[in-house]
Amino acid sequence: MCGIFAYTGKKSAEEVLLDGLESLEYRGYDSAGIYIPEAGVIKTPGAVSELREKIPANFKGHSGIAHLRWATHGEPNEKNAHPHSGCTDDIWIVHNGIIENFKELKEKLEKAGHTFKTDTDTEVLAHLIEYHLQKERDFEKSVLAALNEVRGTYGIAVQYKEKPEMLIAARMGSPLVLGIGEDERFIASDASPILPHTKKVVFLEDGEVAIITPMEHKILKLDATQVKRAPEEIEWNAEKAQKNGYEHFMLKEIMEAQEVIKNTLRGRLIADKGMAKLGGLESVAKKLEDIERIIIVACGTAYYAALVGEYMLEEYAGIPVEVELGSEFRYRSPVLNQRTALIGISQSGETLDTLEAIREGKRRGALTLGIVNTVGSTIARETDAGVYNHAGPEIGVASTKAFISQLTALALFTIFFGRQRHMSKETGREIADALLELPEKIRSILERNERIKELAEKYANYRDFLFIGRKYNYPISFEGALKLKEVSYVHAEGCGAGEMKHGPIAMIDENFPTIAIATQDSVYEKMKSNIEEIKARKGPIIAVVNDGDTEIPKLVDDVMFVPKTLEMLSPILNVIPLQLFAYYFARKKGLNVDRPRNLAKSVTVE
Ligand code: M6R
Repeated sequence: MCGIFAYTGKKSAEEVLLDGLESLEYRGYDSAGIYIPEAGVIKTPGAVSELREKIPANFKGHSGIAHLRWATHGEPNEKNAHPHSGCTDDIWIVHNGIIENFKELKEKLEKAGHTFKTDTDTEVLAHLIEYHLQKERDFEKSVLAALNEVRGTYGIAVQYKEKPEMLIAARMGSPLVLGIGEDERFIASDASPILPHTKKVVFLEDGEVAIITPMEHKILKLDATQVKRAPEEIEWNAEKAQKNGYEHFMLKEIMEAQEVIKNTLRGRLIADKGMAKLGGLESVAKKLEDIERIIIVACGTAYYAALVGEYMLEEYAGIPVEVELGSEFRYRSPVLNQRTALIGISQSGETLDTLEAIREGKRRGALTLGIVNTVGSTIARETDAGVYNHAGPEIGVASTKAFISQLTALALFTIFFGRQRHMSKETGREIADALLELPEKIRSILERNERIKELAEKYANYRDFLFIGRKYNYPISFEGALKLKEVSYVHAEGCGAGEMKHGPIAMIDENFPTIAIATQDSVYEKMKSNIEEIKARKGPIIAVVNDGDTEIPKLVDDVMFVPKTLEMLSPILNVIPLQLFAYYFARKKGLNVDRPRNLAKSVTVE
C-alpha cells in the first residue's frame, strides 16, 4: 500500500519522480504528491495524471520525494496527501506503513508546542524529526532519534530543506529499494521505477537507515552502527505494462490466460516421464522428500488458489495440507516443525499478512517456499526456495491472470511432490498432458466472450448473487464472488453447494440469482440436486457447464459453456467465465474496473 519514490542527482527531479510514480500506481491511487526543495510541494486527491496536471512549468529541481497514497488514517483528500512536513516546513517526509504509537507521540509533541495540520499518522514523524532537529542540529541524528521512538511499520524518504541534495530513507516492515546510478541515487517501494535508470540496487532490510547523496550512500542500523552491503545487479527488465488496445487492464489480463499458462509451464514439464522440473526447488529437493505436512498461507485470490492446491496435493501427492489466511496465521500458535513446508502464494510478493505468516513459519522451524509473480519481491527473497509464476505484470487490481498461473504452478507442485512420493509415471503423464491442453481450451472459452458479456448485461441490475461449487470448484465459488464484488460493489457470496442448505438458501428468491459451477466431474450429480433446490425456491440460476452437457442447461435459466478437462484442473477453466462475467458486469455499470474504490493492488499494511 502506498508507493514512495525519491531522487537526488543531476536530472530534472520532477520528470524522474512523476514517471517513477506511474509505475508504482498499482500500490495506491487515493492521492498523490511531490516535494522538491527548490520548488515546493504539490498534492492532489487522485492519481499521477491529476498530479501532473497541477505541476507548473517552473516547478523544477534536482532532488525530491514523491508519494502515492492508499489511505489508512484520514480521508484521501489533498490535506492528507503526502509529503507531510512539521511546523516549519523544513522537514518533509513520504511514508508507507502505519505508525502505531502516533497518538501518544502526537500528545507529547503538542505539549511541546507543535501544531498538526492533517489527520495522518505520518505527520507525527515529520514533527518528531523536526523536534529532534531543533535539539540536535543534525539531520542524520534527528531522523535516527525519531525512528527510535516510533512503533509500527514504515518505508520512508525524508528531506531537509537546508540540505536539498540529501535523502534519508529507512525501512521497517515496508519494502524499500536504493538505486545506485552514475552520480545519482533513487529510493523506491519496489525496483520498477528505478530500473529505467539503473540496475544496481540495494534492498534495504528492516531496521536499516540509508543516508544518501548523489555520489554516495551509507547504510546504518537504528543504533547508528554502519552496515556493509554490496549492491546487487538486477537481471530483469522494466516491463512497461500496456493495454494493447483493450479498454481495461482487467480484460487484457483475462485474455492473456493462454500465454500465462504456457509461460508458467515453460521448461518445467517433462511430459513423457510424467515429471515436473522446478529449478527453484532444486536446492531444497532432498529436504522436500522428508516433508510430512504442507501449510499454504495467502490472502484474497491467492488464498482461493491455495484452497484448490489443497485438494490437488492431498488427492495426488498424499501429503496433508492446511491452508491459512496470512492475516490469521501469525496470531495463533501454529505447531510446525522441520518436516513442515510452508508455501506462501502471492502475486505481488509484498502482501504484509502473507509475508509475516512466512516469517512466523520460519521462526517456528518450517522450510519456506514461495509461489510469487513479482521478481525480486520481498517474499521471493525471504523464502528458502520457490518458483516464479512468469505471468508478467498484473496491473488490474482484480487478480485474474495471476490466479490462473497460481493454479497452474500448484498443479506443477502436485506433480513434483507426488512423483517424489507414490504418484505413478502414468498419473504424472496424465496431469502433464492435461496441463498442456489447457491453452487451446482457454482459447475456445475466450472466443465465446460475447455470450458472457450478454449475460452480464442481462443480470446487471441484480444487487445480490450467490456462487456455489463443490470439491475442486468450492474455492472457485469464493473467487467468482470476490471478483464480482470487488469490481462491481454488489453483494456476492461464495458457498459450498452442500453447505447452502445450512443457511444461505434462506436468501434465495426470484431477485437473488445463483451462479453454479456445475461441470461434469465426480460431484456433478450432487450439483444437479443443489440446482434443483434453488429452482424450487424460484431463484434464477446461471450455470457454468461443460460443452455437450444436455442436462443442466434444461434446469437453469442461462449457461456459460467451458470445455472438459481433468477434474483437478477444472478450476483453471471454470474461473474464466466468472472473471469475464465480473468484468462485463462492472463495465455495464460504468465503474472504474481497473481501480475499484477503496482497494490497492498490493496490500502492505495489516
Ligand atoms: O499480491 P497478493 O497475491 O499477495 O495479493 C493478495 C490479495 O490482496 C489479492 O489477491 C486481492 O484479493 C485481489 N484484489 C483479488 O482480486
